Amino acid sequence: MRLRAPRVRRRDAIDSRAVSERDRVAEAEAKGPPETDPRIAGQRHPVARMIGIGVFASLIGIGITLLIDWFPAGADTAAGDVDTVYDVLLICSVPVFVLVMTIAIYSVIRFRAKPGDMGDGPPIHGNTRLEIVWVTIPFIMVTALATYGWIVLDDIEAKQKDEMVVGVTGRQFTWTFEYPEQKVETSELVLPEDQPIEFRIHTKDVVHSFWVPEFRLKSDAVPGLTTKIRLTPDRVGRYQVVCAELCGIGHATMRQLVRVVPRREFGSWLDRQKRAAGGGGGGQPGGGRAGGGPNGEALFAANGCDGCHTLEAAGATGNVGPDLDEISKANEAYVRQSIVNPNAVVVKGFKPGIMPQDFGDRLSPKEIDALVKYLLESQK
Ligand code: CUA
Repeated sequence: MRLRAPRVRRRDAIDSRAVSERDRVAEAEAKGPPETDPRIAGQRHPVARMIGIGVFASLIGIGITLLIDWFPAGADTAAGDVDTVYDVLLICSVPVFVLVMTIAIYSVIRFRAKPGDMGDGPPIHGNTRLEIVWVTIPFIMVTALATYGWIVLDDIEAKQKDEMVVGVTGRQFTWTFEYPEQKVETSELVLPEDQPIEFRIHTKDVVHSFWVPEFRLKSDAVPGLTTKIRLTPDRVGRYQVVCAELCGIGHATMRQLVRVVPRREFGSWLDRQKRAAGGGGGGQPGGGRAGGGPNGEALFAANGCDGCHTLEAAGATGNVGPDLDEISKANEAYVRQSIVNPNAVVVKGFKPGIMPQDFGDRLSPKEIDALVKYLLESQK
């Protein structure tokens, strides 16, 4: 096919243009037909060659994307299906990307203007057939992929028999987990193997996102809403829950341990937690028995102090806030003030307003006493 062909069509197109433009084009035509342009005179249509390059580049691209290990090994029953969806998406999107880039790069190189050439290209008004093709094919692809994704998601989200509910609460910058049937609250997520779980996800402040890469599924924690994820862990191991939504300066530290354990082990873990909570643990507001008193170590973990601060005794290594291994044992009043009113004195090198201002409301006076005592006793 030669570019000189659409002569008549070109005139139709010109008629729909502004008069001034029509004059300019008429002038150009009077000078001589555009096919005398040395760049296009006698050259074959490049489509066949572009298709050839595109197919070759697509195959290489698909090969590379399928070789990349995008995720860690799966640890729940949904992981295999999610990985297949991902592979299908890659196989479909690589050729589209390659097609667009091939045409763009080919055109830039092949139809580059010669130095000093200030002329316009031939006036092409449009190509209905091409437009129908590039609207229809992506429409069919996107619709098919969305339908496929919806079917897989619907299957994953189906209600299971004997589901165990686990509450997830995000706050700057920590997660807490609640087992409402067992009345246990912890800072570590422990799940029994092969047990369908329904996570109910909340936030106390801004938007966070609950994500365990090995489980593949992810859901935002949105103020005022309860979002849900259903999954069944099927591989014993230690993983991490990661916050996947930028939520403030401590976002990157908002990671906590997830353990998938055999069912029997889960039972005994739960019993230990219940006993700890019964003794007046931090996770049980008002649950402290007379004489027990709140547990400073549990409070430190449950309130996310470990997400931002370093404290060797608690195994905390955060560096968003000051190092708590370096506080003076003699300065109890200062430690208390720093919890209740963190902006009163800000340690050099740190900014005010990073630490939540509401621990004075969140914690009871007894709990604050316990936390201060724990921090001071943890000093070497
Ligand atoms: Cu919470 Cu990012």
